[in-house]
Amino acid sequence: MSTYRVAIIGLGRMGSTIDDEGHSPLPYAVAAATRASDRLELVAGCDIDADKRDAFTQRWGIDAVYEDFRQMVEQERPDLVAVCTRAAGTDMRQAPDASYRVDLHAELTVALADMKVPMLYVEKAVACSMRRADEVRDAIMSNGTLFNSGVLRRFDNRYDVVRDAVLTGLIGEPKAVVHYAASSLLHGHIHSIDTVSWLLGDPTITRVRGEFEPPDYVIEGGHIPFDPQATYQLQFDSGVKAWSVPAAYWEFEILGTQGTIRSLNNGGDVGLRLASDDGRGWQNVEAQPLVPASTVVSCLEDLVIAHESKRPSRGHIEVTHHITEACLAVAESHRSGGNWVELPGIDRDLYVFHI
Ligand SMILES: NC(=O)c1ccc[n+]([C@@H]2O[C@H](COP(=O)([O-])OP(=O)(O)OC[C@H]3O[C@@H](n4cnc5c(N)ncnc54)[C@H](O)[C@@H]3O)[C@@H](O)[C@H]2O)c1
Repeated sequence: MSTYRVAIIGLGRMGSTIDDEGHSPLPYAVAAATRASDRLELVAGCDIDADKRDAFTQRWGIDAVYEDFRQMVEQERPDLVAVCTRAAGTDMRQAPDASYRVDLHAELTVALADMKVPMLYVEKAVACSMRRADEVRDAIMSNGTLFNSGVLRRFDNRYDVVRDAVLTGLIGEPKAVVHYAASSLLHGHIHSIDTVSWLLGDPTITRVRGEFEPPDYVIEGGHIPFDPQATYQLQFDSGVKAWSVPAAYWEFEILGTQGTIRSLNNGGDVGLRLASDDGRGWQNVEAQPLVPASTVVSCLEDLVIAHESKRPSRGHIEVTHHITEACLAVAESHRSGGNWVELPGIDRDLYVFHI
């Protein structure tokens, strides 16, 4: 069985240290997930901050650390590179002014694909505008790069249970989806829209409408200097509609003609209700207990399996590009006063700053 050489760009929380924060007992940082997998070997790291490079060497025993990612790729020839920098390339929570249009995830992804790195893991969201998302898609497709992004519920086996129930018809024909939790647009709803899509089997999103909180916020010059709180409505070509509700803990409910299934407590549990034989309402059904696995290990190993079996990755670039477009369409809809936006009809240069 082959093992694959992994290098990480951005040696902060997601690259190296997030496991210290106690979010999960399972490997979460890319370095920890790589170490936990017998298909992957951690070989190098890159950060512009010398202290981060030193801390990475200390923590993981990796001496091959670089300031410049190009030098790292040329010297180490990794099979898989993980991009774990912040999206807009800064620690600031807000763009300093309207000319700030840095899009570091997109920039690094295009450069790495053009350098012929075979597999990429890229933190979300992959771009701050559709102009750059289009460039990412084109670079990944023209270089034949295998690609997944950090929308980790897509790689979470506890959501597979819900998806399988939906796709095997357990709840009949799906009609509507509800996502619960207040969330920012590109940091949070890139996850929620991706998960809604994944649970339905990734049908095409035909149109989107949404608004920011506060609803009277005015977008100036096609530039949103912070990641706004937002709600949305989606229409899929399968006929299913989805809504986000800005309250409660992260949950997803899929309502079908014969029942409803709900991922509870941020994936921790599943609630299932099915139509009773006598046609009088829906009855609770006991669901199997969930045994979680590391989502980051699953995501990285999915790239390896896709590479070996020549199948698309779970978070392949066409679906990631489509979800990014749906997310940015929420901003476009807000700008138009909450009208429906038909995809792909959005301003490619509309920029949303996010981390
Ligand atoms: N998927 C998830 O569950 C999850 C969880 C946490 C963070 N994230 C995402 O991961 C990304 C990183 O977040 P974080 O909290 O780890 O940030 P962080 O600030 O802790 O780490 C980012 C690192 O990137 C480095 N960096 C910046 N520019 C660079 C460059 N040009 N080349 C090399 N290194 C560079 C910084 O010095 C820093 O050490 C964000 O996009 C965030 O949204 C995702």
